[in-house]
Amino acid sequence: MTNNEFKAAILQGIPTELPPAKTYDVEVSHAPIRKMILSKEEQKLALKNALRYFPEHLHKRLAPEFFDELKRYGRIYMYRYRPDYKIFARAIEDFPYKSKQAAAIMLMLSNNLDYAIAQHPHELITYGGNGAVFQNWAQYLLTMKYLATMTDEQTLSLYSGHPMGLFPSHPDAPRVVITNGMVIPNYSKPDHWEKFNALGVSQYGQMTAGSFMYIGPQGIVHGTTITVMNALRRIGGKKEGRLFISSGLGGMSGAQPKAAKIANCVSIVAEVNEKAIIKRHSQGWVDEIFSDLPALMKRVEEARNNCESTSFAFQGNIVDLWEYLVKTKIKVDIGSDQTSLHNPWSGGYYPVGYTFEEANKLMIDDPDKFHEAVQKSLRRHADAINKLAANGMYFFDYGNAFLLESSRAGADVMDNSGKFRYNSYIQDIMGTLYFDYGFGPFRWVCCSNNEKDLAETDHIAAQVLEGLLKTAPSEISEQLSDNLKWIQEADNNKLVVGSQARILYADAEGRIKIASAFNKAIKEGRISAPVVLGRDHHDVSGTDSPFRETSNIYDGSSFTADMAVHNVIGDSFRGATWVSLHNGGGVGWGESINGGFGMMIDGSADSERRLRSMLFWDVNNGITRRSWARNESAIYAIKRAMETEPKLKVTLPFGADDGMVETIISE
Ligand SMILES: NC(=O)c1ccc[n+]([C@@H]2O[C@H](COP(=O)([O-])OP(=O)(O)OC[C@H]3O[C@@H](n4cnc5c(N)ncnc54)[C@H](O)[C@@H]3O)[C@@H](O)[C@H]2O)c1
Repeated sequence: MTNNEFKAAILQGIPTELPPAKTYDVEVSHAPIRKMILSKEEQKLALKNALRYFPEHLHKRLAPEFFDELKRYGRIYMYRYRPDYKIFARAIEDFPYKSKQAAAIMLMLSNNLDYAIAQHPHELITYGGNGAVFQNWAQYLLTMKYLATMTDEQTLSLYSGHPMGLFPSHPDAPRVVITNGMVIPNYSKPDHWEKFNALGVSQYGQMTAGSFMYIGPQGIVHGTTITVMNALRRIGGKKEGRLFISSGLGGMSGAQPKAAKIANCVSIVAEVNEKAIIKRHSQGWVDEIFSDLPALMKRVEEARNNCESTSFAFQGNIVDLWEYLVKTKIKVDIGSDQTSLHNPWSGGYYPVGYTFEEANKLMIDDPDKFHEAVQKSLRRHADAINKLAANGMYFFDYGNAFLLESSRAGADVMDNSGKFRYNSYIQDIMGTLYFDYGFGPFRWVCCSNNEKDLAETDHIAAQVLEGLLKTAPSEISEQLSDNLKWIQEADNNKLVVGSQARILYADAEGRIKIASAFNKAIKEGRISAPVVLGRDHHDVSGTDSPFRETSNIYDGSSFTADMAVHNVIGDSFRGATWVSLHNGGGVGWGESINGGFGMMIDGSADSERRLRSMLFWDVNNGITRRSWARNESAIYAIKRAMETEPKLKVTLPFGADDGMVETIISE
């Protein structure tokens, strides 16, 4: 298809003539079949809801087809309307547009649906099993047409993938306002999602899927590298030959061996699924595979003695690995777990004593016995970790509900005061060292889709970080130097999949200075096209998530979501090109609220004004809340921000004397 034909297809929107039916492509990864949760009456409603995208004369043809999709897959995806052209992040000029900002949004959402990137592309799912960009293909086609025809005097309103339409606005307004899965709070259980999504009225957008900000696996590699580096720092000691043990080579967990290698340690990650191991090995994310424990440990000892930074996959159950380490008294430096314990009963956690195949069969044939096996396995799992921790290993929970599910299984994971024995990676590392100081996952995408531009942005970002390091206070110099090392090595680590994108963690000052330097380079022609700025939800301000991003908030406010909502409202009137607000993200529907943004900068003075105004708010909003929660690092960071910006006036907390409060309460 020529570029002109592609442009014509976009401008057509939903075709007026019925396109030929599509065959179900078994080569492509498809979303799991969703359970049929709708009553007969609700099924009629789902069908009528789907048909409202099409003129009446097509209904007799489409109705039986859509009903068949609903019965077979639990959803109406409208497969017939999936376009024939290749969807990917083309260069910005290859999209038809009247508003360049809207073209940047087309580029970003196309990247999320690229077949090489999306997890289940035909069902418009980008990642996480259910992180949707749109609910069906009609929504995609309509949205692309609106984006291609809109001007900078209009704003597109998107409700969970459905384009409500274009509304008159003004150039300073966001071009798109997105909400995903926003429901009345009492109706936010997983089954509500099943029902609303099957009706075609709501969707779970994860976060970067539904806000068009997904950049492939590079984000998770970077976050994991930072975590492992800081975990190693906590234990101190010699710099090489340290051993990290964990589990999981899946979607996010698969980043662990690559990250451990970048952090210069030896790692063993256990994985029960052979396919997952082979995939990560073929991608170069894990170096060597073993299924024999004595042979593995012989090779590991060799690697430690030679100070190699090598990563090993153990093909087997993590509990077998932990117990072997206890039995053979091998010293482990740091440990964690990344099985999918947020989903323990349907394949997230494989119990010890069963092969992968046996466990898959058991969970369907005898769910009660499977439940028992998982809980027994968790008790053994925690026992072995406790023994190694008693021998000096630093263990942290990786936000995967390991401690929560282990405690439910009766494992020995609580201390005398009723708290978990171990902290999470947010409590010990990311929250205190990163989020409270304003450091978060700043990312950018080069709209030329040209790797030369990406190399130039890497170079500019490194220069900015080097400059900041020269005068940085000690509190944040390690964060800056870790990210400088990351960006200097980013190109060699070959992490780009899809759009020409990059990520690093920076604070407000860093994000603004890097963005401003990009803007100058675009103006001077050193970068050939606009750049899109954004971030994910693993951040300071955008996300209220009591078991993850805000788990180091201890003033009782971790179950509130004012911060995330304020974040997106504030971004929307400070210059964002698009904004988004989501129910869920990472931890699941009903478990968090997060706000996001995208901002296109094009080298203009207007872009400079917007980036300064919006990025300042996008970070400091969260630092303020964290400082009000009495987090020391955040109090330090917000005082520093007030010194640089006289218009910032923040309410600071007074500390209450613990002893005095204790006396009053116990009297
Ligand atoms: N990486 C991060 O930054 C991060 C942050 C927060 C939460 N998490 C959590 O980490 C978990 C993993 O995420 P994912 O995307 O990789 O999930 P995933 O389901 O794709 O991968 C988990 C892997 O663990 C393997 N596994 C399960 N039980 C096992 C066992 N007993 N022994 C060995 N292997 C076993 C599975 O086969 C699977 O491949 C999730 O709960 C996620 O929410 C990760």
